[in-house]
Amino acid sequence: MSAGSLPPPAETLLSVAPMMGRTDRHFRYLLRLLAPDLRLYTEMLTAHALVHGDTVRYLAYNESEHPVALQLGGNDPGLLAQAARMGADHGYDEINLNIGCPSDRVSTGDFGACLMDRPQLVAECVAEIRAHVDIPVSVKTRCGIDDQDNYEFVAAFLTEVAAAGCQLFILHARKAILAGLSPAENRHIPPLRYPLVYRLAREFPKLRIILNGGIRSSREVREHLLYTEGVMIGRQAYSDPYWMSKLQEGFLNPATGREWEAPARALVVEQMADYAQQALAEGARLHHITRHMLGLYAGQPGVRAWRRFLSESAAQKDAGASVLLESLRL
Ligand SMILES: Cc1cc2nc3c(=O)[nH]c(=O)nc-3n(C[C@H](O)[C@H](O)[C@H](O)COP(=O)(O)O)c2cc1C
Repeated sequence: MSAGSLPPPAETLLSVAPMMGRTDRHFRYLLRLLAPDLRLYTEMLTAHALVHGDTVRYLAYNESEHPVALQLGGNDPGLLAQAARMGADHGYDEINLNIGCPSDRVSTGDFGACLMDRPQLVAECVAEIRAHVDIPVSVKTRCGIDDQDNYEFVAAFLTEVAAAGCQLFILHARKAILAGLSPAENRHIPPLRYPLVYRLAREFPKLRIILNGGIRSSREVREHLLYTEGVMIGRQAYSDPYWMSKLQEGFLNPATGREWEAPARALVVEQMADYAQQALAEGARLHHITRHMLGLYAGQPGVRAWRRFLSESAAQKDAGASVLLESLRL
């Protein structure tokens, strides 16, 4: 694939959002068992941490996770390019730049959402990354920051960054309020503005616009796909990961021609037990894996007892993968 070129549409149709503390390799493995064509994103890694830290540990993932994108945070084009190159060399399928995170820590480091009003710098980062990797480079951003939240502001940002070679944009349909709101508040207080994203998708037909924010049902997915190239789901994918298997059946199977049926939840638990056995042998703790599984039976009878058993048993010192199989008795 040449620099910046994009995967076929089925690959951008549905993705699970990057989420710190959630979309680590264990949760991504679970998602992959549930939906073979879902596009996955890592948690955000700063370019600085990657280049100067424990690269091998940060970049580790399971081969089954493909297609999987590495999300980077930073504002130094050279450092980002270096980090992106490491990701590409490790086999990641896409580099995603985080221009949407509003946390103080990120703002004071001068990256994340605050970079929306420095589109030229973001464009430089994209250009430099593209010069160093031959996988697609995407940008995840917001519908504005503070009082700079009109259509023209977001459109100007997209125009400048697209000119540097980014064609895939993930738009969280809320603006970020940088002063005064915590990251969690910034995920529900600024109102969702889907029409703004639809308009961007309409007026930038050459770009791939993915809509993110507040999606909780298949009906909503269907609706957004009438206007945009794809949707990205965050919190609801975490609280009800089994829903992803339904989205695979309903949207990804038709797009890819795959004949795939949602596996029974119990089968997924057994597969996770096999995975956990391997991961434990490599030094993981059972709890680090099972904590991401607590939503698997969301909405099913007996879910509370199952969750309690799993949380309590997996937290025991030396808990083994058999805890997962035992949980099936409930
Ligand atoms: C716990 C948590 C951690 C997050 N971490 C990141 C992150 O590392 N990078 C990022 O771009 N967005 C991050 N986000 C934002 C999500 O990617 C997404 O944009 C947001 O949750 C809105 O989508 P949703 O309404 O479907 O959850 C995070 C969200 C949550 C809930």
